[in-house]
Amino acid sequence: MFERKRVFISGVAGFLGSHLAERLLALGHDVIGCDNFSGGIRENIPKGVEFFEYDLLDWSKNLVHTKNIDVIYHTAAHAYEGLSVFSPHQVAMNVFSTTSSLLSATAENGVKRFVFCSSMSRYGDQNAPFTEEMPTCPITPYGIAKVAAENLLVNMARTHEFEYAIAVPHNIIGPRQKYDDPYRNVAAIMINRMLQGKQPILYGDGGQQRSFSFVGDCVQVLEKMGFVQEAVGETVNIGPDEELTSIYQLAVEVADILNFSLDPIYLNDRPNEVKRASCSSEKARRLFGYQTQYRLRQGLEEMISWMEKRGPKPFQYHMPLEIKNKQLPRSWEERLF
Ligand SMILES: NC(=O)c1ccc[n+]([C@@H]2O[C@H](COP(=O)([O-])OP(=O)(O)OC[C@H]3O[C@@H](n4cnc5c(N)ncnc54)[C@H](O)[C@@H]3O)[C@@H](O)[C@H]2O)c1
Repeated sequence: MFERKRVFISGVAGFLGSHLAERLLALGHDVIGCDNFSGGIRENIPKGVEFFEYDLLDWSKNLVHTKNIDVIYHTAAHAYEGLSVFSPHQVAMNVFSTTSSLLSATAENGVKRFVFCSSMSRYGDQNAPFTEEMPTCPITPYGIAKVAAENLLVNMARTHEFEYAIAVPHNIIGPRQKYDDPYRNVAAIMINRMLQGKQPILYGDGGQQRSFSFVGDCVQVLEKMGFVQEAVGETVNIGPDEELTSIYQLAVEVADILNFSLDPIYLNDRPNEVKRASCSSEKARRLFGYQTQYRLRQGLEEMISWMEKRGPKPFQYHMPLEIKNKQLPRSWEERLF
């Protein structure tokens, strides 16, 4: 029988948070959300969300807005893995401190379940495909902060007796993703550049392998993690595992859809970039009956069609670089995007 719940989503104006909100509203739940618009936009917030604009670091606001909430999804983060190598303070502080602030309110308000959006960066450069049993060994400040936040969650959930689940998404694509940000979202950057008639910029030989997930496929699992008993205390990779693609192949696919004559620009490798990163979705299949609905090509087509309607946008260098040494990629130092 359907049980209507009050769900709080942090980062509800963001890419993943807004799609999750849409899905939970469609299921009949009440959705409350917050965002400070540091990475998301107002028009992403689905109609029907009870929205509060504030910074999650403000613990007292979290305390007010998470009263009488059944489930919290913490999707908010400055999701900048590559940039975190050069702006570790801003990224790591955001990832860890937004979590500690929200967890504190969770415990005080007696919220029943907390679902944390972690990242595949938790696995570092171990042999892919990553499975949930592997130890965590992140190699970037972003990944380190995600793992620290996970540890705090487990500690606090045990002490204060609330349920938790840890979702591990990887390289999500789809409509509503920010595409004017030069520091993240490789597919979105590539599409935006090609829509501007510019060649994509690849690091190293572009052979870095990733598996991309369409946002709907992530939401399919994320939704369950907030509600079903099988999710309690579990860490689950979310997203497809059928297609491993190199960044060069991604450029080829995008160029093919856009009928763009491809001749990529190659720059030096970025420091601490994992060469082969993909997750096994076996656990999601076993626990939640996960099935991939979108192949990469189909996901890219939907994303491109959404971006074409909005039109290309100039890149905004809105995050300050803390460390500007010789390791800094030229693309950021010289603002090549
Ligand atoms: N997109 C991916 O490929 C991907 C992959 C793995 C993990 N993740 C994780 O999934 C989550 C969602 O990612 P996304 O791609 O939707 O990012 P996003 O930037 O689109 O959404 C995050 C939202 O959080 C908000 N936010 C950030 N800091 C805040 C603060 N201090 N107070 C209030 N709001 C704040 C931003 O404004 C933004 O709207 C993140 O935790 C990210 O680390 C994303």
